[in-house]
Amino acid sequence: MTSATSLFSPVEADLRLLTENLKQLVGARHPILYAAAEHLFGAGGKRLRPAIVFLLSRATMPNQEITAKHRRLAEITEMIHTASLVHDDVIDEAELRRGVPTVHSSFGNRVAVLAGDFLFAQSSWYLANLDNLAVVKLLSEVIMDLAEGEIQQGLNRFDASLSIEAYLEKSYYKTASLIANSSKAAGLLSGVPAEQAQHLYSYGRHIGLAFQIVDDILDFTGSSEALGKPAGSDLKSGNLTAPALYALEEKPYLEKLIEREFAHEGDLEQALALIEDSRGIERSRELAAHHAQQAVQHLSDLSPSESRQALIELADYVLSRLY
Ligand code: IPE
Ligand code: IPE
Ligand code: MG
Ligand code: MG
Repeated sequence: MTSATSLFSPVEADLRLLTENLKQLVGARHPILYAAAEHLFGAGGKRLRPAIVFLLSRATMPNQEITAKHRRLAEITEMIHTASLVHDDVIDEAELRRGVPTVHSSFGNRVAVLAGDFLFAQSSWYLANLDNLAVVKLLSEVIMDLAEGEIQQGLNRFDASLSIEAYLEKSYYKTASLIANSSKAAGLLSGVPAEQAQHLYSYGRHIGLAFQIVDDILDFTGSSEALGKPAGSDLKSGNLTAPALYALEEKPYLEKLIEREFAHEGDLEQALALIEDSRGIERSRELAAHHAQQAVQHLSDLSPSESRQALIELADYVLSRLY
């Protein structure tokens, strides 16, 4: 497996500084938030989103140093992501995240909801202080999209008639929107032309979709230890992702099991066996690979650099998590 660390080497120093800054920014206001910040930003996160922001910032600023605004954008991006995880873990009742107990399991739901709110609010404040209206619009839409994605997912639980298109739309809201809009914002801060900014958006959108599809496959195939979060919980909670949706096309009995919400003993195991026996995982891999390939095509206008190369390889890294 390509390690994220070697892939991110052009921005390793940037990421180290970012982690320190995030602990300071979030922790400075309150002891409980300090504890949460240490816990959240201490270790374990892959920092994929800020790495993309840094790599794109560097790739769009050839021969120039990136600005304080680029750095702040990367911090805001990781803050928004982390806030969404803190709330998501409350919704999903997940006990483990980034290999450590979740905020709600350590400090209680009340603290987790408030800590998530605080992170969202604080990210908005830092966002406004970038003094760039176009960037504010892009990232504030992301915060709406994250809520929209969780709502859609909640409404569609155990709905076996869900289409792949609806699944991809939800995945855009939950995951790809943040990567797409922060990618575009990095370009805007570098002053790239509108057309180029749109390519950066598309790169982030396709990377985000590939990443979510891979994450959904790993929920079936991975171990909780390797993932640092509970595996095998999507299907059980009625969250129908690509492998299950494809399997439904081949295995009509799966629909029945899903619609009765695995009420009978052995239903869940039977459903998992049907999915395993189908082409669901394989077709999901193909879908993820398709989006990873699409992503790379949107980098062709960037002039060659170490950062651009890392962004190209990042598409492979996203898929390599499967092997
Ligand atoms: C988790 O994102 C949520 C999804 C979009 C699947 P990451 O897997 O990037 O989480 P961290 O930041 O590395 O913990
Ligand atoms: C993660 O969603 C949170 C967001 C992307 C908003 P999931 O519930 O799908 O991901 P994990 O499995 O908890 O990381
Ligand atoms: Mg979750
Ligand atoms: Mg969730």
